Amino acid sequence: MDTDELPVPERVSVSEIGGRTTRVEVYAELGSTNTRLRELAVEGAPESTVVVARAQTAGRGRLGRTWNSPPGAGLYASVLERPGIEAGRAHVLTLSAAIAVAEAVSGFGVSGVEIKWPNDVLAKGRKIAGILTESSMLDGKIDSAVVGIGVNVRQAAVPDDLTDRATSLEAEGVTVEPLRVLTKVLERLAVWRPRAESAGDEAILSRWLDLAPMAIGAEVHVDDGKSPYDAVTEGITDDGRLRVRRSDGRTEVLTAADVTLSR
Ligand code: BTN
Repeated sequence: MDTDELPVPERVSVSEIGGRTTRVEVYAELGSTNTRLRELAVEGAPESTVVVARAQTAGRGRLGRTWNSPPGAGLYASVLERPGIEAGRAHVLTLSAAIAVAEAVSGFGVSGVEIKWPNDVLAKGRKIAGILTESSMLDGKIDSAVVGIGVNVRQAAVPDDLTDRATSLEAEGVTVEPLRVLTKVLERLAVWRPRAESAGDEAILSRWLDLAPMAIGAEVHVDDGKSPYDAVTEGITDDGRLRVRRSDGRTEVLTAADVTLSR
């Protein structure tokens, strides 16, 4: 979307949004908050700039999918990170965002919250939130990373044909406004995100593993876009990739794939 065509952002203050937010833009409707924030990043927007939309017309998910974004039904937000860390550690940003979203969702009282590799957040096995991180590199380091967060707040965010695989805060018994969900996510992100720079990756990896029981010893079906296969998960590598063992004993290390629990 061309910047000239953008609707005027609504007035929401940085302090209302909370966390480490330095600048915030809230729109009634955007194509994609990730796309808008990427434009701001190119213009030099500071770390922790946040873009939120009440609806997206071209919301994007992982693996080239679309992200259903009807008005007021979900949290559609993007957060700008400028961590200055090595390109090879980009995954710690996504892992810390997944931890923050999982903790935020649990914090509203949703039970059975867990992370499914790489960064889906599930409630009792159904997807309630997803994260799409898009990074730009400069001289081997992350110049900026746009962390896009989508949370199904009302059940209207869940397409009818996905109700067996996706859920919402509303369906889990929680009535809350999308902006309130954002505040909670940013509060948790303010705890986890600085650890991506300071404490090293161990704290993040270990908390992520706590929240992702499926990452070790689970029987899964792997769709890598080529030839799907069954496997057992064997944890994640230091760079955030999922290790699985195929039924014939071969080990694979996955960078991007769809992994679902075998039933
Ligand atoms: C996934 O496939 O699970 C990731 C979904 C990420 C959706 C969010 S909504 C806000 C931000 N803007 C987008 O276009 N996508 C992300």
